[in-house]
Amino acid sequence: MSLVAALKGNGPTGFGYGSTADEVVKDLNLEGKNILITGCNSGLGLYTMQTLSQKGARIIAAARTIEKAKNATQDLSGEFLPMACELSEPTSVAKCADELVKRGEHIDVILCNAGIMALPKLQVQHGLELQFLTNHIGHFILITRLLDQLKDDGRVVLLSSSAHQMAPKKGIELDNLDGKQGYKPWRAYGQSKLANLLCARELARRFEGSHKTANAVHPGVIMTNLGRHSQGDVINFLGSTLGNALFLKSIPQGAASQTYLAAHPDAAKYSGEYFADCNVAKSSAHGKDMALAQALWEKSEEIVKDFNL
Ligand SMILES: NC(=O)c1ccc[n+]([C@@H]2O[C@H](COP(=O)([O-])OP(=O)(O)OC[C@H]3O[C@@H](n4cnc5c(N)ncnc54)[C@H](OP(=O)(O)O)[C@@H]3O)[C@@H](O)[C@H]2O)c1
Repeated sequence: MSLVAALKGNGPTGFGYGSTADEVVKDLNLEGKNILITGCNSGLGLYTMQTLSQKGARIIAAARTIEKAKNATQDLSGEFLPMACELSEPTSVAKCADELVKRGEHIDVILCNAGIMALPKLQVQHGLELQFLTNHIGHFILITRLLDQLKDDGRVVLLSSSAHQMAPKKGIELDNLDGKQGYKPWRAYGQSKLANLLCARELARRFEGSHKTANAVHPGVIMTNLGRHSQGDVINFLGSTLGNALFLKSIPQGAASQTYLAAHPDAAKYSGEYFADCNVAKSSAHGKDMALAQALWEKSEEIVKDFNL
């Protein structure tokens, strides 16, 4: 056990900083569960997919291309439905969702895991800054098109990040979603992760009165491919032995919170929460702002409507 894990201990769920995804599902049988995971070919998504499938869940494995989804699943035992879902291309996301509707898939969990971080230069696609488009709008399209497929006790889990605290002063700059009035890599990443958190909060509000849940997750800080666009001293330090020991979780630990929210029976009682270390955590003030959550939802609907999907 790492020093940090020992110091932090476990929380009310019985799990904590040091818990792994394998520990979370240890006593579970997930046969009959149908779980959609985006970003299934790398890092936390790949590990979560492996862990859930080993316990019997059928995985709808979404990646940017069908080849990536097939490659990620081909050596695993279990049941998989590989799907192409390029989150920065609204037509690809809509095609993926519509195919699942056409197949009559009933879905237990939509795990919105895929993401990109801190693009060094402003990139604009379909009139939107690329992290906002990929991390938020792509998943918004996927979720909203699949809402009728979600089972009565279905769950939506969105990967946010503690970096949601790096969002702009306004929280979400609804008047600067193309970044043209100012762009900073971490601020834009923070904004997109705040959007993931607010999307979970607003969805949970819309689920009130049902058994469906929606929650957001900060997985910890884990060395995955996510840092591919970031350079500099902080990333180098995190990769060093000392940085690793002090600040980093392993991939099995990083996958624990999303695995808990997706699969653990006890997690059914949580909705509209922000999780870290497998327990309810505190978010920024913007992360609790339900007026902003509603405004973001309405703006996202407008954006998606204009795509004419
Ligand atoms: N690692 C951390 O420390 C950390 C901390 C806080 C939050 N998170 C969040 O955790 C999630 C998983 O990240 P990770 O650490 O596992 O990173 P990762 O190893 O880079 O995996 C990210 C996944 O997202 C996919 N993806 C990226 N852009 C996409 C697009 N346009 N369409 C479809 N899929 C796309 C990637 O596919 P390709 O391989 O094809 O690019 C990959 O499968 C992210 O949402 C991230 O923001 C991670």
